[in-house]
Amino acid sequence: MRFIEWNDNFITGVHECDIQHKKIINVFNAIYDAIRLNINKRALKDSFNSLINYFDKHFTLEENLMEKYGYPELQEHREEHKKLKETIDKFMQKPEEEINYLEVLKYLKNWWVNHIITMDKKYGLFLESKIK
Ligand SMILES: [Fe+2]
Ligand SMILES: [Fe+2]
Repeated sequence: MRFIEWNDNFITGVHECDIQHKKIINVFNAIYDAIRLNINKRALKDSFNSLINYFDKHFTLEENLMEKYGYPELQEHREEHKKLKETIDKFMQKPEEEINYLEVLKYLKNWWVNHIITMDKKYGLFLESKIK
């Protein structure tokens, strides 16, 4: 069973963002499989670090688009991205043996889905008419 399935309900209508959202969901599934297969913690930490870098890249894309098209809720959205990054930093700064990677992954998955549905879809509605 997959850890998380893509759902068309996640579509924002901004193609590039949707592709990245989908990619992150695939990465969540890959990391989940790795945890279940008990791969070593060093390798897990590396996977998380790549995931976190990809988050950064994605947030920058969204923020640049929102800025370019004058999205009125940019500041609020940027804050949410920033808060997540701070939470992740706190998780990852713990000593390696204390990090519960499955818990972190579940947290990120829930945040991701919730954030797409509440905030990303909102900029999607706004940007859809501007970009096309
Ligand atoms: Fe997003
Ligand atoms: Fe976002």
